[in-house]
Amino acid sequence: MAGLAVNIDHVATLRESREFISYPEPIAAAVLAELAGANGIVVHLREDRRHIQERDVRGLRQIVQTKLILEMAPTSEMIGIALDIKPDVVTLVPESREELTTEGGLDLMLYKETAAETVSTLQGSGIPVSIFIDPNPDQIKIAHQINASMVEIHTGAFCNASTEKLKVHILEKITQAAKYAYKLKLGVNAGHGLCYKSIHAFKGLSEISEFSIGHSIISKAVLVGMERAVKEMLDLIKNL
Ligand code: PXP
Repeated sequence: MAGLAVNIDHVATLRESREFISYPEPIAAAVLAELAGANGIVVHLREDRRHIQERDVRGLRQIVQTKLILEMAPTSEMIGIALDIKPDVVTLVPESREELTTEGGLDLMLYKETAAETVSTLQGSGIPVSIFIDPNPDQIKIAHQINASMVEIHTGAFCNASTEKLKVHILEKITQAAKYAYKLKLGVNAGHGLCYKSIHAFKGLSEISEFSIGHSIISKAVLVGMERAVKEMLDLIKNL
């Protein structure tokens, strides 16, 4: 069965939407997600600090019992923070200030050198690195060449596809990408935009070892509570 890493960025988004307010607390959300069975906790420390703050990552490092996954851009500031806090895994993502959320994968054709140096520095200090990439064999080939431990295949285009034909086409690309990465012995994760409906599409794709899901789970948790929101997603993943 694939694992579920719960992204809690949007708990911090709610907190940061009001000045001088310190709730809801992302660490509390992480504890509840773990108690419900999550296999990992994901946070994205953005350069603009729009949701998760550095102190959240430091607190989570003390509290998380499963696996703390830090999403970050491959910048020198973030590398320094990761080396200091030592998350269990780093996922490299692209970042632009205007985006609402991470829009595309990290383009390894363009950023091969930066990614290679980041992978080498972080993995050299014992932090396995995953790279968030679009479902494209050229991207996977480079992730393998630069020795990344894992890739996370971007599922956003699939989730947002406007026609059934496009959905089928992108799902086939994701399937081929997952199989190719698995063949190269890269760890294979997937995420972005996944919800309680779209997760069904991944039935039988056993090469994916972990799904990284945030927005849909936190949205449901607002209404029914974190435990039920995480458990319902875990049940769906169990049946894939
Ligand atoms: N994976 C990566 C690399 C991401 O950047 C994000 C969004 O922060 C997610 C997964 C989770 O996406 P969503 O919140 O749409 O489930």
